[in-house]
This record gives sequence, C-alpha cells and structure tokens, in this order.
Amino acid sequence: MADTSATREIFVTGLKNAHAMENQALSIMKPQVSRIENYPEVARRLEEHIRETEGQIARLEELLQQLDESHSSMKDMALSFTGAMAAMGHTMAGDEILKNSFANFAFENFEIAAYKSLLTVAELGGFPFATSALQTNLQEEQNMARWLDDNLRTVTMRFANLREAGESAKV
Ligand SMILES: [Fe+2]
Repeated sequence: MADTSATREIFVTGLKNAHAMENQALSIMKPQVSRIENYPEVARRLEEHIRETEGQIARLEELLQQLDESHSSMKDMALSFTGAMAAMGHTMAGDEILKNSFANFAFENFEIAAYKSLLTVAELGGFPFATSALQTNLQEEQNMARWLDDNLRTVTMRFANLREAGESAKV
C-alpha cells in the first residue's frame, strides 16, 4: 500500500467506532429486554445477542490492543445514527414492540455495513490478524438481522392478536 500509516489510522478509527457502536447496541437492547412481557422469544433472542455483543466488544478490544491502541484512551463517541435510533424507542406509544423491531433491524444492518467496511480496510492495510475476529462479529450481526427479518411477521401477528383480544399496550 502507498500509505500504510494512513490506512492504519482509518483502521484504528473504524475499530474504535465499532467499539462505540457495540456499546450503543447494549444500551439499546438491555432496556428493551427488561420491558418485554408478551414476546418471550424476542426477549430470548435479544438476551442471546446481548451476550454475543459482549463477546464482540472483547474481540474489538483485543484487536485494538494488538495495534497498541487502548480503547479506553478514547472515549466512545456517540454516533448520531445510533442516537437517533435510541430516541425512536417510544415507550408511550402502544406499538413499542413494532418500532423496536424496525429499529433493531436497521441497527443490525448498520453493524453489518461497519464490519464489511472494516474487513476491507484490514485487507487494504495488511492486517490479516484481524480478519477472523471481524468475520465472527459480522456473522453474528448477519444472523441477528436474518432472525429479525424472519420474525417480523410473527411479531406483527402477535401484536395484532393481542390487540384484538383487548390486551393492553404492554410490550
Ligand atoms: Fe448486533
């Protein structure tokens, strides 16, 4: 590569952003799980993905250490996109479970794009040690996005059925 140091900087910044992104993911998913009562399969999958996300954060921290960059040296920046997503979690409206399903699907696809981009930078910059960890994270995001996609019809039908049955707006 013509300028390895510039590519290295892009890579390190990208890893730090991914670290912030995953922490944001935790702060979005954890409150959701705690509120769910009527959608146990959604709660179960979210709990599983929270554990996966904690593993992803550990992988990113390990990569940053290998690059002699401490993740704590730089405070995680809140991404405007994720902030907007978090703000979408309206708890007042009765269709919270649907809005969260849309937001989670959007967020997982954002993460997928981030890891695909990081894999490209790793390739360009010659950081083959990072490929396996980034592939693992990408795979987990793709699995989660697919699950949300597959589950959207089920969630919507359950939401409608509960409403028909006169259930309250509980999540
Ligand atoms: Fe994710």
